[in-house]
Amino acid sequence: MATALGALAIAGCGPTQTALDVEQPEGWADDLALAEVKDLNPDPDVVEVELEARITELEILPGKKTPVWTYNGSLPGPLIRAKVGDRIIVHFKNSLPEATSIHWHGMRLPNNMDGVPGLTQDPIAPGGEFVYDFVAKDAGTFWYHPHIHSAAQVGWGLYGPLVVEDPADPEVFGDELVLVLSDIALDDEGRFLPEDSGGEFGDLFGREGNVLLVNGKVRPTLKVRQGKQQRWRVINAARARYYTLRLPNHTFVKLGGDNGLAERSQEVARIVLVPGERADFVFTPSDPPGSRTFMQWIPTERGFGSLFNRPREDMLEIVTVDEDPVIPEPIPVELRKIERIDVSNAKELTLDLTIETQSMQHRKEVVMGINGIPYWNSKPMEVRLGETHIWNVVNDTAFAHPFHLHGYFFQVLDENRIPEWKDTVDVPAESSLRIAVRFDERPGMWMYHCHILDHADSGMMGHIWVADEGETHPPHVELIH
Ligand code: C2O
Ligand code: CU
Ligand code: CU
Repeated sequence: MATALGALAIAGCGPTQTALDVEQPEGWADDLALAEVKDLNPDPDVVEVELEARITELEILPGKKTPVWTYNGSLPGPLIRAKVGDRIIVHFKNSLPEATSIHWHGMRLPNNMDGVPGLTQDPIAPGGEFVYDFVAKDAGTFWYHPHIHSAAQVGWGLYGPLVVEDPADPEVFGDELVLVLSDIALDDEGRFLPEDSGGEFGDLFGREGNVLLVNGKVRPTLKVRQGKQQRWRVINAARARYYTLRLPNHTFVKLGGDNGLAERSQEVARIVLVPGERADFVFTPSDPPGSRTFMQWIPTERGFGSLFNRPREDMLEIVTVDEDPVIPEPIPVELRKIERIDVSNAKELTLDLTIETQSMQHRKEVVMGINGIPYWNSKPMEVRLGETHIWNVVNDTAFAHPFHLHGYFFQVLDENRIPEWKDTVDVPAESSLRIAVRFDERPGMWMYHCHILDHADSGMMGHIWVADEGETHPPHVELIH
């Protein structure tokens, strides 16, 4: 291959420069720019910022105002960027009309920083403040969102990206672009649709917004140069929507998932992300100069009726600038050694994701749970610090559920997957999978739940008590949802 390209170059008809020789086109990602937040701390190893949750009118539909629930007035909330090992301090103020909290999805942080009201902290009342303070132990693509009245609050706009860089990552991955995928439910006037729209079926299916957003915008534009690679960090921050993304004539190289690089890179035809999940990809633009195309959202099978009558939708416009193509850099295959969790002494248990329809006096109510028990009636699963578990996550329901665990990374026990660290994984309808997790540190009360937030709010959540040495009684908790 290298020889063939070399010969072309000599003949004067092929690209001569490589991806690393040139810059991205001018203003390439301007339309996708994320809000930034000022680092108030001069120490290069401390990121100290202020976040305020407040309602801000933003223009999402042309000419219409939407009262978005935001962090610091932007949708998504500002990008918090740190490098592995940094201390992150967030001075948070709640200027919303109701209680909230911030959960740092995917971060392995001390239990009292996990942002789960009733379990790890008190709800932060309107006007209240809280200081989150933790160390970014792991490199990866993370995000933050509230953990109370979550389906509604996330649906109204409360989510933001958190990137923890590894300075050792090779330059050939390309210039970084953070893509926060979400959706929002608006009427023609830009007003929010009712939070209980669709009633019981809305709970069952999970409410998807009717307007697709990339970094808070409808169909933004990205400028690329043929052959000049980009590293995409993609986050699914939608409360229920699954994303399958396709770009005609392109494949992507997947570098890793929720918690940093996977063991090997892998060429994939599509980008698939379930709610809460993240992944990093190298995108190599291969359309000729002057082309214009769209990355499309493709309906994803997530159970009962999820594909029915649903068209593809354009999400992101890709414009290839009129500059000479360059030769892409080869992406390494071996990325990182992922040590397998030793499961020889693991405790095995089954978590059955359940849905029941109860007849109330005048209506039916959907109650979801784990092993038939909704969160508000559940007892904590007791774990001793240092234990390793295998969880058999069973889904006999007609809907897919993205399973998420707080505080610890897990490995999916499946020979056919490239080894990587995960905190969120899809469990398709009528299927099951096994995950291994080691509760090696940071005792406390931790959540696990379905990340279709309507399902979580309907009861499909549980909690575990990782007991410290010598601890015999679980701390008192309140199961708020
Ligand atoms: Cu992304 Cu329990 O959360
Ligand atoms: Cu989480
Ligand atoms: Cu679910």
